[in-house]
Amino acid sequence: MTYKPSPNRYDNMIYRRCGRSGVKLPVISLGLWHNFGGDTPHEVKRAMCRTAFDLGITHFDLANNYGPPPGSAEEAYGDILKTDFAGYRDELIISSKAGYNMWQGPYGEWGSRKYLIASCDASLRRMGLDYVDIFYSHRFDPDTPLEETMGALDQIVRSGKALYAGISSYNSEKTREAVAILNDLGTPCLIHQPSYNMLNRWIETDGLKDTLHELGVGSIAFTPLAQGMLTSKYLNGVPADSRASQGKSLFPSMLRDEAIGNIRKLNDLAAARGQTLAQMAIAWVLREGGITTALIGASRPGQIEDCAAVIGNMEFTADELARIDTYAKGEAINLWAASSASDNAPVR
Ligand SMILES: NC(=O)c1ccc[n+]([C@@H]2O[C@H](COP(=O)([O-])OP(=O)(O)OC[C@H]3O[C@@H](n4cnc5c(N)ncnc54)[C@H](OP(=O)(O)O)[C@@H]3O)[C@@H](O)[C@H]2O)c1
Repeated sequence: MTYKPSPNRYDNMIYRRCGRSGVKLPVISLGLWHNFGGDTPHEVKRAMCRTAFDLGITHFDLANNYGPPPGSAEEAYGDILKTDFAGYRDELIISSKAGYNMWQGPYGEWGSRKYLIASCDASLRRMGLDYVDIFYSHRFDPDTPLEETMGALDQIVRSGKALYAGISSYNSEKTREAVAILNDLGTPCLIHQPSYNMLNRWIETDGLKDTLHELGVGSIAFTPLAQGMLTSKYLNGVPADSRASQGKSLFPSMLRDEAIGNIRKLNDLAAARGQTLAQMAIAWVLREGGITTALIGASRPGQIEDCAAVIGNMEFTADELARIDTYAKGEAINLWAASSASDNAPVR
């Protein structure tokens, strides 16, 4: 059936300026890491993208390796662009990335010019696009000169294959270096994509959050729901259709009794605020304008609707924030810590 986007799609979403750029992003963005590969029916992927756009979510985030198999999320999104979003390209901000393992041999991962440029070309082919809006270095590469990695991003932008450059999971120190190089090249860094949620606050302790403000770089926080932990779904066990049951990236060790006990308290606090835990978790990430947009994932359209309703209550009292600090205890859930280390080990 032909899709017609909701005519009211821009009425309720909030858009925030991305750093010191001219671009505004919706406070909720949709990522296609999980549930957009070959293991999910195409109609479910399509329904999620349509729901997102109908709610004013104009930003869709991809990477070369999203699947499984790697590349299949970009292929699926390319199909959806043709069937549903044709004619709306200028209303969309589409991003992709390269950095993690994508193909065999020495040129299939990390941060060389060779890899980044070939990977960007391949992403464009899979999605059937002439350009992406944002192209990211997916992780810092300790063995490639930062000038080379940033030079590749600059070349990608100058050749018209991306409109803006971004970096992901770089720590504060490497972010300063990368941003300075990009400024010198005349291709400012639009945005940084770090992991960030109530249970994973490394960007506060590392100083990255303050650094981004100081440098005028926008921010998009990935895993704002801690992969689903910061929702009510795990309060009574592991549902059969949940990410934790799929042996992907949310491990049973993250769902220990103590963690669930604290999440239960957070759930109570969210209920007292008149919102779901997912909404409170997103509002927390977005609090005081500190982060430009929260990059959620989803397995069904209803979750996107629930998350987008965060705009109903994004304010916190000092007492609420203090209570969140009491219960949001640091769990070992930051799977990207190695990618943020200056000497990051070659892990996937
Ligand atoms: N730059 C990087 O290195 C990097 C790394 C990871 C992710 N990312 C980006 O960040 C995006 C989001 O990551 P993520 O999927 O881990 O984010 P997330 O928003 O923390 O978790 C998404 C999961 O939470 C559950 N969920 C979402 N909304 C819900 C709701 N309203 N109620 C109940 N459960 C809900 C779903 O779990 P179920 O599937 O169990 O239903 C969903 O798959 C990715 O798609 C990708 O674009 C980037």
